[in-house]
Amino acid sequence: MPLIAQPLPLPGGALLARLHGINAEHGYLPEEALRGAADELQVPLSQVYSAASFYSAFSFEPRGRHTIHACQGTACYIRGGDKLLEKLEATLGVKAGETTADRLCTLETVYCVGSCSMAPVIRVDGDTYGRLKASHLPRILKKCRPIEEQEV
Ligand code: FES
Repeated sequence: MPLIAQPLPLPGGALLARLHGINAEHGYLPEEALRGAADELQVPLSQVYSAASFYSAFSFEPRGRHTIHACQGTACYIRGGDKLLEKLEATLGVKAGETTADRLCTLETVYCVGSCSMAPVIRVDGDTYGRLKASHLPRILKKCRPIEEQEV
């Protein structure tokens, strides 16, 4: 028997299910929703944050509708991945790790997506684009523009 009382484990991954629900509803994990989940599930807020921060699928900041991953792994970097990232940052007006003001795009870096033979690589909403040059980016970024602008 432990000397310090421990909270009982939640049944069947209730906390993760609740976090997924919040993430699906808001696109990220707002603090007030996490506090609500802690109250609802009767667990310490620290336990909610511990679980939420463990999984990269969750974010504490609002995210864009589209996610762009610019690979900066070795194969991509030596083939110009750094230049592609610079071009993406300049085009979108954000730095890696940030979301555009219109919340259309979140730009992130990754370190290898397993497509080194196609380096340099970016991924947009899970679709991989390889052997890229900066001149290819405007066509790829079309899907990140508002729908009414995509038709033009
Ligand atoms: S280093 Fe970019 S896909 Fe492997």
